[in-house]
Amino acid sequence: KKIVYSGIQPSGSLTIGNYIGALKNFIGLQDEYNCLYCIVDLHAITAPQEPKDLRKNTLDVLALYLACGLDPEKSIIYIQSHVPEHAELAWVLNTYTSYGQLGRMTQFKEKSQKSKEVLAGIFNYPVLMAADILLYGTHLVPVGEDQRQHIELTRDIAERFNRRYSDTFEVPDILAPKVGARIMSLQDPAHKMSKSDENSDGFILILDSEKDTEKKIKRAVTDSLGTFAYSDDQPGLKNLIDIYCAFSTLSADEVVAKYEGQGYGAFKSDLAQVVNDGLRPIRERFKTIRDDKAYLESVYTEGAARASRMAQKMLRKVYKKVGFIPR
Ligand code: TYM
Repeated sequence: KKIVYSGIQPSGSLTIGNYIGALKNFIGLQDEYNCLYCIVDLHAITAPQEPKDLRKNTLDVLALYLACGLDPEKSIIYIQSHVPEHAELAWVLNTYTSYGQLGRMTQFKEKSQKSKEVLAGIFNYPVLMAADILLYGTHLVPVGEDQRQHIELTRDIAERFNRRYSDTFEVPDILAPKVGARIMSLQDPAHKMSKSDENSDGFILILDSEKDTEKKIKRAVTDSLGTFAYSDDQPGLKNLIDIYCAFSTLSADEVVAKYEGQGYGAFKSDLAQVVNDGLRPIRERFKTIRDDKAYLESVYTEGAARASRMAQKMLRKVYKKVGFIPR
């Protein structure tokens, strides 16, 4: 069986962008592949985190994983900092990654432009991500479009290492969803939906109330053209249609056919209902799972044990190739 690997940062509450671009697609892969799903707390601290919030958010993401249908019987579900090999492999991979390459990462450029002090951690972030992926012999990485460049860098690092020594790492492929790989802000369709947006009308959280979900959709920016079309000239509407498709079985064309000739209002109320219907079972399950501390602990403990066995094997192999003396 091929190996699937992905992770989500516990740096806040997850949005429907995270859900549509990544989390939703994790579920179906579980039967066909050996999947590892990580909560990447080492990545989260590349932005300042309040310790108690980080602890809460880490367990929230874990409970959301489970509420969405990740199954610890099928997949390895664990917390990144529980498996020290991630940081250890990242150090080695740093020596196969160029400064220039990291400086060209668009996510680094965006984040470093916004902050007055640029931390080394944010610069090295993609190397740690490469370590996550390469540590497990990963074939496929289900992520949103914004991670494509990081996956390409990961491939590059793997190939460079393999050339220098011998075949060690699997060279992974990205697995981005056909619809919804880049969900945009509801307030500004030129920017991606992000949990760090200061305007909370720009995003819908998976755990938002049904009322808030409806409110935010009603307030979503569209256009004054008034025609119902799936077009780059109407990026706000296009984004809403993408969201509709992600929560229904309809294609964009079918959604257009359904609402053609109507105003945006009717579409927006239906969209709110489709999104709330889709998220309702997750929102309900979340509460019960999140309260069950013992269960959560058993899931991440077991997950870390299973991930560790794989990670240790790979790190040993890497250390040997590099020329470190085994203990
Ligand atoms: P993170 O935590 O920012 O986002 C988690 C996942 O959600 C996707 N995503 C989106 N998809 C569509 N539209 C959006 N607006 C949107 N916003 C976020 C992201 O593409 C991602 O798949 N670097 C990663 C975490 C990571 C990782 C890894 C992923 C660390 N190590 C190894 C895969 C494999 C990140 O910051 O995701």
